[in-house]
Amino acid sequence: MPEFSPGLEGVVAAQTAVSEVDGANGRLIYRGGYLIEDLAPTVTYEEVAYLLWNGELPDKAELDALRKQMASARVLNKAARGALLSTDPATDPMDVLRTVVSAQGATKTLIKPTLEEAVALTAVFPTIVAAAHRRRLGREIVDPRDDLSHAANLLWMMEGEEPDVKRVHWVDSYLVLLADHGLNASTFAARVIASTGSDLTSSVVGAIGALKGPAHGGATLAARSMLDKIGSEANAEKWLREAHERHERFAGFGHRLYRTYDPRAKILREMAATAAPELHRTAARTEELALHILHEAHPERPNATNVDFWASVVLTGAGVPKELFTCTFATSRVAGWTAHVLESMGDLRLIRPASVWIGPEAGKKPPVLAKR
Ligand SMILES: CC(C)(COP(=O)(O)OP(=O)(O)OC[C@H]1O[C@@H](n2cnc3c(N)ncnc32)[C@H](O)[C@@H]1OP(=O)(O)O)[C@@H](O)C(=O)NCCC(=O)NCCS
Repeated sequence: MPEFSPGLEGVVAAQTAVSEVDGANGRLIYRGGYLIEDLAPTVTYEEVAYLLWNGELPDKAELDALRKQMASARVLNKAARGALLSTDPATDPMDVLRTVVSAQGATKTLIKPTLEEAVALTAVFPTIVAAAHRRRLGREIVDPRDDLSHAANLLWMMEGEEPDVKRVHWVDSYLVLLADHGLNASTFAARVIASTGSDLTSSVVGAIGALKGPAHGGATLAARSMLDKIGSEANAEKWLREAHERHERFAGFGHRLYRTYDPRAKILREMAATAAPELHRTAARTEELALHILHEAHPERPNATNVDFWASVVLTGAGVPKELFTCTFATSRVAGWTAHVLESMGDLRLIRPASVWIGPEAGKKPPVLAKR
């Protein structure tokens, strides 16, 4: 019997060519062998999604075809619209996303995951996220535009105004950087569901649920809330020391795999200096001190800055409201989730780990029936 590994740490549970996290060297490699720092400055989210699904970057005709396909899939169907309108407008946008995605994929029979479905599911995320946001504000829902990119559509449908190109670029870069990340918790959840022979929507709904937690996608919002509480460079040390004494975790720090600086955080840190200069200053001081305090307490632990810390600053600069941070993460990661599910179709085997029994020895209790 193999040994129990809490949190499945160190357990290899899949083979994948979708992406690779080289934690020791701080590298993230996307499908085809692209290093994230080479890819990020040159591609759009649509191109990265194509790469993750198909294994190659698209040429112009393939990209145009994908854009068209996504444009035609951005509208909610009747069931999804009904589900959206049935939620209380104050509902957490992640819960709206989970509910509406489920309704959008409701079918009469079980359908095997397909690439077309992956494209359609990915395309509709910004529509749902923006609609949830507009309803929270008590405003009319804004329809998607076929002439805008995926990132621009998210801002357009959120605000109902032509989005500024710089802000579109920041959102697009964020979407590119977060699109896949090895066998993270939500991707694993998606692959577990797919391994039972279930449908793609079920995998994606399960993944949304896994992403929501503060140890995973919810960390971006937690990082922003931490920066809000810190408020200024001058207050950073006092706040962090007190939080550390209360044994609170610093949001946006630490990672299961990275033993050094997260390469996505490095790119976002640079972008944040232009996207949100004031918040960048507080964040830079916070980062410096947080790393110092973590190192002081445990010099043997390589707790470095992770992507969520700097993502929270870039998304703030791009004008994404903090309530939508986790949904925006999901809007990016859905390409990775669906790529993993499609990949797993090639060698489908039920994921079913074992557990270690820690209950009492069997047969020692008086027979239950005798008591009755
Ligand atoms: C991401 C995370 C869940 C990885 O956790 P993990 O690999 O399971 O590591 P553990 O939770 O076992 O933590 C190991 C030790 O480091 C400490 N640690 C890890 N991250 C920490 C953080 N951000 N702040 C303070 N201490 C931290 C833990 O308290 C633990 O110490 P202990 O053994 O004395 O309790 C963890 O680092 C974390 O909670 N980070 C904050 C949330 C976050 O940013 N999540 C986004 C990840 S991309």
